[in-house]
Amino acid sequence: MKAIVYTQYGSPDVLQLQEVARPLPEKGELLVKVHATGLNAADRLGLSGQPFIARLAMGGLRRPKHTILGADVAGVVEAVGSGVTTFRPGDAVFGDISGAGFGGLAEYVCAPEGVWALKPEGVSFEQAAAAPMAAVTALQGLRDKGQLRAGQRVLIHGASGGVGTFAVQIAAALRGEVTAVCSARNADMVRALGATHVIDYAREDFARNGPRYDLILAANGHRPIGDYRRALAPGGVYVVSGGSMTQIFQGILLGPVLSRFGDKRMGNLAAMPNVDDLATVGEWLEKGTIRSVIDRCYPLEKTAEAFRYLEQEHARGKVVITV
Ligand SMILES: NC(=O)c1ccc[n+]([C@@H]2O[C@H](COP(=O)([O-])OP(=O)(O)OC[C@H]3O[C@@H](n4cnc5c(N)ncnc54)[C@H](OP(=O)(O)O)[C@@H]3O)[C@@H](O)[C@H]2O)c1
Repeated sequence: MKAIVYTQYGSPDVLQLQEVARPLPEKGELLVKVHATGLNAADRLGLSGQPFIARLAMGGLRRPKHTILGADVAGVVEAVGSGVTTFRPGDAVFGDISGAGFGGLAEYVCAPEGVWALKPEGVSFEQAAAAPMAAVTALQGLRDKGQLRAGQRVLIHGASGGVGTFAVQIAAALRGEVTAVCSARNADMVRALGATHVIDYAREDFARNGPRYDLILAANGHRPIGDYRRALAPGGVYVVSGGSMTQIFQGILLGPVLSRFGDKRMGNLAAMPNVDDLATVGEWLEKGTIRSVIDRCYPLEKTAEAFRYLEQEHARGKVVITV
């Protein structure tokens, strides 16, 4: 089968289109014929091996142990390993296989049945592949960590990227009043996704003299944690799920300390693949409550080009590889 293989950490130049053996499903696994694979920052970090901690996820400190990237996969079950009860050949499925060693940038991939859900009806393979990691991150950040309740004021920082576009829609679906922070070129898009207010980060500062928010999800960008704290309403919650390393580490290290003073809670989200959350995302996609915003699709052989585009960190929604 064709696959995009890398054997050393580096730039997209190290990605090679190769012919490799088709995997065989082990006990409890599905062999899935891949139709589309959504790219995430996790793939980008896994490719570069930077920061160094990203190498733990790829299982190799000097070189990647898992040599095929791609976590968010949509495809059709080709065969099942022994003991598989939930799926059968011919089922269309989607899932986040990052916990099972990645491997979606290939014509076939094997992963345990527990990471897959049925692909929502009426949703294309590309749209399904765009959703798992980003939508589940947004869901866990808003609903679980953020404890979002109807009527609350929610600010999404970095609202126009993969996580952000799902976060805007999920916050609106949970009946929050959404303010999206993004650049001017994406203002109309995030309004169409459900944002009531839009702040252009190049011209306005959400942390100065504006309204205060019950929940802030920092999906991307880079602002000091003190700015986010200032923008919280009394009793408000700040969750950082992404952005610059400084932004993330301030959430991890300073968030718990700042939470001890006053009634504002601050911290980070380490989202985990969760098949129940994936099923929720699937239901919402099927009903049209949320949709995947796809910026660009690339064929498998142009994967390096897709990574180069993603590295610029200005994708509008998701970048997807069609296989
Ligand atoms: N915590 C977790 O478990 C978890 C899970 C998934 C992802 N993540 C992290 O989440 C982050 C975002 O991932 P993603 O897939 O959404 O990334 P992405 O799609 O590559 O983000 C691109 C978007 O970010 C926006 N952006 C760039 N600079 C910005 C700034 N200074 N302020 C506001 N927005 C800015 C861009 O908008 P403009 O073009 O308009 O500037 C663009 O739309 C990454 O750091 C990733 O590592 C974390």
